[in-house]
Amino acid sequence: MCGIVGYCGPRKVVPVVLEGLRRLEYRGYDSAGIVYLEEGKLVKHRSRGKLSKLESIIDSAIIAPSHIGLGHTRWATHGAPTTENAHPHSDCTGDLVVIHNGIIENYHSLRTELKEKGHVFSSETDTEVLAHLIEEYLDTDLVAAVKQAIERIEGAYAIGVLWSGMEDTIIGVRNQSPLVLGLGGEEGNFLASDIPAFLPYTNKVVFLDDMELAVITAHSCEIQSLETGLPVEKEVNTIDWNAGMAEKAGYKHFMLKEIFEQPQAITNTISGRINPETGEVDLPEINLDREAIESFDRIFLVACGTSWHAALIAKYWIEKFAHIPVEVDIASEFRYRNLLINERVLTVSISQSGETADTLAGIRRAKEMGSKVVTICNVVGSTMTREADGTIYTHAGPEIGVASTKAFISQLAALFLFTLYLAGKKETVSAEKRLELGKALINIAGVVDRELPRLRTDIENLIDDFWDCRDFLFVGRGLSFPIALEGALKLKEISYIHAEGYASGELKHGPIALIDKEMPIVALIPRDEVYQKSLSNVEEIKARKGRLILFGTEGDTHLEKLTDDVIYLPEVHEEMNPILYTIPAQLLSYEIASRRGCDVDQPRNLAKSVTVE
Ligand code: F6R
Repeated sequence: MCGIVGYCGPRKVVPVVLEGLRRLEYRGYDSAGIVYLEEGKLVKHRSRGKLSKLESIIDSAIIAPSHIGLGHTRWATHGAPTTENAHPHSDCTGDLVVIHNGIIENYHSLRTELKEKGHVFSSETDTEVLAHLIEEYLDTDLVAAVKQAIERIEGAYAIGVLWSGMEDTIIGVRNQSPLVLGLGGEEGNFLASDIPAFLPYTNKVVFLDDMELAVITAHSCEIQSLETGLPVEKEVNTIDWNAGMAEKAGYKHFMLKEIFEQPQAITNTISGRINPETGEVDLPEINLDREAIESFDRIFLVACGTSWHAALIAKYWIEKFAHIPVEVDIASEFRYRNLLINERVLTVSISQSGETADTLAGIRRAKEMGSKVVTICNVVGSTMTREADGTIYTHAGPEIGVASTKAFISQLAALFLFTLYLAGKKETVSAEKRLELGKALINIAGVVDRELPRLRTDIENLIDDFWDCRDFLFVGRGLSFPIALEGALKLKEISYIHAEGYASGELKHGPIALIDKEMPIVALIPRDEVYQKSLSNVEEIKARKGRLILFGTEGDTHLEKLTDDVIYLPEVHEEMNPILYTIPAQLLSYEIASRRGCDVDQPRNLAKSVTVE
């Protein structure tokens, strides 16, 4: 939530920062702003709305010779998404600016105090308080003033500070909101909320930890701990992403590109981790040997949103094949409920970003209670990966579309690997069965790759009759139930159509009352072990004249008797159906949203990385 970028180096700062903001716009797009130093003065441009609006008002500034500056793209928390509330925010003199991602919880009392001291505020944001607070302590030493201000604030923050009195330096501070440094060598140095911001210039990254302050110039990055006051030596990580991975590559939207990248994402997740001859899975990165695994009497899976749907599927897999009871929790519930956790519980967080505030708080709590923590994560070096005892990286590459697609599919692949690993260590299924399951996982990438273009065409044709509907239901049983939830979430978040997902068997406990000849119901009905039951539920919908859209198995001609709208999928190993059936669900929402002219990659009110509670 909110993207921040800072740069100092030999390049002209405006295009570098604007490009960085474009790559971070997925983090929020309520407003955007930029500031740079020119002839000893700070020049600031801000605009409500998307980055393109900001760009349109600063065209002439692109030639500004400045080489140091900051930029911000906002997801509004405190204060409406107006130009006045757009970052950067200044102190009274206009000589100091702050950009911020997070929430300053005690800003009310600080604002009152500062107002009494004569500070005049020009926005409703919590961030502006910080600019005035630093001003209050500032004499000649910016670092000292920032430190004093930080001591007074409570909450989560990643900030960038620029002062005209110290023309070659940017200060960055991190506490509970992500902040990374990009070390560009001769290209200069960068500060950002996320790595894609500076990928065109460097893949050398330093991850700041909580309560660390960075002093950044064109030639150096010095980090110190705010707790000890001492310099900190940080590891420099080389990231194997490149700038092209964060481009659209000819696709109309990132989401579509990312849907088509899913076969590769699956391959990246599983490669090197599963032996194709034996199906044996090796995950040394989670630091759990046989003894540790046998000591667990329960697993908690903790996640939010789409990642939570991945957890719901994993419950079926782990309980079936590794015989360990699994509880699945929405992280915002998990973090506050009465948990019965001890060292015999394994907690697994699932997160694309590795920064989601609730999930992070959840694993912290589990750890405090003695649980081991494994995280399944896409972003290398993110906070969750640093706090967990072990990480399974999904290696899906940067996901820019706000709606999760390839990250979800790669989470499923990682969770199936994890299941096979547990089952292998515990020997809860035979070696023969493990090989069968392993092969099923290895083969699914090829099936998805083959089917994607045809599915897209089928879905494009299908939506002619449905794109302007007001409501949708998605239903499924067993492994298809979480995919029904995911289908509904995808549709509502990018097309703004009201959609609900249900377990098919739940329909008659209430939702069936919604069914009439207007209501489209997407039923996932693969030929699996609950096929007959699912079929009965579909017949019940048909009897009430619901408008059925069926996703089913090739050759199941019975489905055509129920509706003209059938999307056929090839028969695969039934444990792989969640991966396969997700694809038409994603394409359905994509094509509908696209037909409705929605902003597919940046749906209203959302941000990709939810770093506030
Ligand atoms: C929906 C979506 C969100 C995320 C959720 C968790 O398409 O992307 O529901 O899944 O915000 O984010 P991560 O996985 O980064 O923890």
